[in-house]
Amino acid sequence: MPPEPARTREGASAHTGDVDAAPRHLVSIDDLGTDEILELFARARSFSEDLRAHAHLCPGTISASLFYEASTRTRLSFESAMLRLGGGVLTAAEMKTSSSSKGESLADTVRVVSGYADIIVLRHSSEGAARLASRYATVPVVNAGDGSHEHPTQTLCDLYTLWIERGRLEGLDVVLAGDLRYSRTIHSFIYALARFRANIVCVPHPGLELPDYVLRRLHEEYGAEPVRADATQLGGLAGESDALYLTPHKPHQLSLFTELSSLRVDRGDALYMTRPQTERHKGENSDKYMRVGAETMALEPLRDALVMHPLPRRDEIDASMDTDPRGVYFKQAARGVPIRMAIIAMLLGKVPAIAARPRVAATYFDLPAGKSPCPNPNCISHTEARHVQPAFRLRQRHPLRAGCAYCSQELSAPFVASRRDRVFFPRTDAKAQAVPVEDLVFLQDEREALELGFAKG
Ligand code: NCD
Repeated sequence: MPPEPARTREGASAHTGDVDAAPRHLVSIDDLGTDEILELFARARSFSEDLRAHAHLCPGTISASLFYEASTRTRLSFESAMLRLGGGVLTAAEMKTSSSSKGESLADTVRVVSGYADIIVLRHSSEGAARLASRYATVPVVNAGDGSHEHPTQTLCDLYTLWIERGRLEGLDVVLAGDLRYSRTIHSFIYALARFRANIVCVPHPGLELPDYVLRRLHEEYGAEPVRADATQLGGLAGESDALYLTPHKPHQLSLFTELSSLRVDRGDALYMTRPQTERHKGENSDKYMRVGAETMALEPLRDALVMHPLPRRDEIDASMDTDPRGVYFKQAARGVPIRMAIIAMLLGKVPAIAARPRVAATYFDLPAGKSPCPNPNCISHTEARHVQPAFRLRQRHPLRAGCAYCSQELSAPFVASRRDRVFFPRTDAKAQAVPVEDLVFLQDEREALELGFAKG
């Protein structure tokens, strides 16, 4: 069961991410302040001048790679980064051979590994796994990919590449293509791009559009305005896709675009391609998946665009782009080492931190132990149900909205109860809106409410 957090009221607890006490985790790209991201980039650039000159930073320090899913780049670049910093690495790259195959919970595993290493790099197939791990580990946890949720360190490699190649991050025009639904790299990247006020064009493979909860967060938390995009300028790349434009501006303020009802895509600084994440879906129509080659990159909006990809690629980027100066995906992968050196050095407090941390990276509230109200069946609160205390983050008070503290998906439960007053109401009821946040319980239906001993309010 979860650690004992500070009690705010009997039976309820709140956790904040702004405490100064170690350890500091990197679970979501939101765990970093904007200036901190730029500070990481400056440090990565200085590390990259001579990767061999920094072994004095982490001698005697050990990182543990806990990988429950396949990886090449992320694991090896993290391990290379730790070795370059003078530390050592423990690798559990095949967690199926570990005690998890004997039924050990993730919570127990990270508690144990906290005794063996100074930092844990975790990849897991369930959304929210890294947040869960961060609640139990006594050393920093880095999210190296949790299901289709987030992959913040890949985002730092991606943004760093844009920063180096374009010389800035503010207001770039970026096209995101492919599997936007299940690509965790897309989700962390799009939040970061929105933070830097990018104009983002989403060109999904049909059926693999951005999840609603991501779109909603982009709109509500980052002020990104979603508008239908006229992507005919992108030729076959857009194909039958339902292209979407996300812009920090109110559409009428845009001079770039000619039509107001659907904004035309006229230029791009980068085209970010993703492979179909067929380990997370059936891959229907993947044979018709988009492909980027010289022909696509000759189209007017893409003529000066960088071609980016988190890799591995399948067929979505033609080999002809490998020798094209716009194809930067191998550089993007190589930059993983200095970036991850900067991340490790920062999380372990081995370098001075000048930039401000986000004031409250995450505030979340525990729910009573039991069934998780999260609607996402692949959330760690379901896949490790016996070991996870459900928790939520409040998004909005009126009307009452909350997200799962682990996987960020919107809690759709139609009823809420007050655990102090033992009564329940429809979520839209004014009385429900007045329940103090630390007393809230989310319920799927009246039967569940009655079974748990709540009376109709
Ligand atoms: C990505 C991942 O694992 O999400 N790979 C990576 O870390 N570079 C992208 C992918 O697997 O498609």
